[in-house]
Amino acid sequence: MTPEVRPLIAGNWKMNGTRQSLSEIKMIAEGVQGPLSDKVDALICPPATLLYVATALATDSPLMIGAQDCHFATAGAHTGDISADMIADCFGTHVILGHSERRTDYRESDHLVKLKVQAAHAAGLTAIICVGETSDERDGYQTLDVLMRQMEGSIPPDATAANTVIAYEPLWAIGTGVTPTPADVGVAHAFMRAELGQKFGSEGRTMRLLYGGSVKPANARELMSVANVDGALIGGASLKASDFLAIYSVYDGLTA
Ligand code: 13P
Repeated sequence: MTPEVRPLIAGNWKMNGTRQSLSEIKMIAEGVQGPLSDKVDALICPPATLLYVATALATDSPLMIGAQDCHFATAGAHTGDISADMIADCFGTHVILGHSERRTDYRESDHLVKLKVQAAHAAGLTAIICVGETSDERDGYQTLDVLMRQMEGSIPPDATAANTVIAYEPLWAIGTGVTPTPADVGVAHAFMRAELGQKFGSEGRTMRLLYGGSVKPANARELMSVANVDGALIGGASLKASDFLAIYSVYDGLTA
C-alpha cells in the first residue's frame, strides 16, 4: 500500500463473458456496497459487448465499469476498433491499455500505447497502463530496464494520479498460477514509484500502482500488503464474483 492512496481492485475479463455472465457483475455490484467502499475502489472491465449493459447494472453501486482497449483516433475507418469516446458514451470510466496480450498478439508498441492513453485522457477516461517483463527478461536481470523503457515510452506527459494507473504484470505470472515473491514485487513497485516521482512529482508519488498476474483470494493479502502496491489487476479470478469479492475484502483490516 501507499499511504494516502486509495486502493483499486480491478478485474480484466479478457475475451470471456456473455450475457449469462452479467449475473456475476450484478453480484459484484451488490457485494461492493458495504463500508469498505469508502476506502477501496472496485472496477470490472468486461468485453466491449457487455460494456453498456454492465454499466446499467452497476448504476446504483460504487462498482465502476471499464474497457480493455481503445483506438487512438476518436472515430473513423478502423474496422473492429472502438474509441475512447465510445467507452465514455457507454458510461465506462476506465480503459486498460498496453496489456501484454495486446503487446504480444498485435505487436502494440510503447508509442502506440501512449497515443491510446492520450485518447483515453481526452475522453475523460482513466487509463490503466500495463507494463511487465517476459521470463527471459527476468532471467537476464532486465526487469527494471524493461519497466523503465515501457513507462518512459507509454506514459504521456499529461498523466496525473487521477487519470492514470500503472499495472505491473510480469508476463510469466499471467494465467500461470505462479507469482513473484512479495519481495520481488516490492522491488519492482519501489522502482516504479521512484521513477514516477522523479518524472511527475507529487502526481507520480500518488499514482496507483497495481500488481497483476495470478492474483487469487489465497495470495491477495500478502501481495496487497507490499509497499507501493495499491491494488490488483485480476484476470481469471475476477470472473467469479465470490473470488473477486474475496480479493476486494482483504482490505478489511489492512492498513498502510
Ligand atoms: P490472471 O489473473 O488470470 O493471471 O491475469 C492477469 C492479467 O493479465 C490481468 O490483466
